[in-house]
Amino acid sequence: MRRKMIAGNWKMYKTVTEALALVQGLKTKLIDIDDVDMVVAPPFTSLAMVYQAIQSSNIMLSAQDLYYEKEGAYTGEISGGMLKDIGCQFVIVGHSERRSLFGETDEIVNKKIHAALNAGLSAIFCLGESLEEREAGMTFDVVNRQVRAGLAGCGEKEMKNIVMAYEPIWAIGTGKTATPAQANEAHAYIRHLLSGIISGQGAEQALILYGGSVKPSNAAELMNQPDIDGALVGGASLTVESFSEIILSSRG
Ligand code: 13P
Repeated sequence: MRRKMIAGNWKMYKTVTEALALVQGLKTKLIDIDDVDMVVAPPFTSLAMVYQAIQSSNIMLSAQDLYYEKEGAYTGEISGGMLKDIGCQFVIVGHSERRSLFGETDEIVNKKIHAALNAGLSAIFCLGESLEEREAGMTFDVVNRQVRAGLAGCGEKEMKNIVMAYEPIWAIGTGKTATPAQANEAHAYIRHLLSGIISGQGAEQALILYGGSVKPSNAAELMNQPDIDGALVGGASLTVESFSEIILSSRG
């Protein structure tokens, strides 16, 4: 039985003061939850303070991105080692906003996944098709390419520290959620692809999160699907009420 994981991707929202207020509220509300893995991914500027605030709670810390070099003259970039140093356990890699707005290719995503693992972080590896690709019947081709390219050089050992996140681009921030059946179909396909890369048992244990307009009203139905192991939540992770409601409804 796979444990559910609910991760909140705060994107470019929240000052330090706002971030601390949100995480304090979550901490209080979710104090008794020990059967769901809960992760928050604030912007870089709030990571260190949020890390202090989540001590003695079940909430874990993720960054939203990293650069793949260890250090050097890369103005504006942040390394995996720096994130590990301030208390991150996870880092999101390959988010569609990074791919579409900042030109990240599958090859860059792959380098970032290896850099995260080398720094001792777990990677939350995002992938998913655009609306045009879905309408052209290319969903599985795109997912296949992204999984294979993103996970190049990853085997059984690496996969233990990689969480997959299927986020169809057409469902992100649009209010349009994939139906539970559509999402589960893609997740089952991703699990099938994983079983070609690692053992069947490893693929069975892999966590595959769904992301794209997850909210309190649709979370339970999505989380009840056999191949959906949790959610990567954007907009609805920005308030204590909606994020905790999603967490509570993932408990079944
Ligand atoms: P929304 O939940 O706002 O659609 O965002 C999803 C997402 O991109 C999470 O990484």
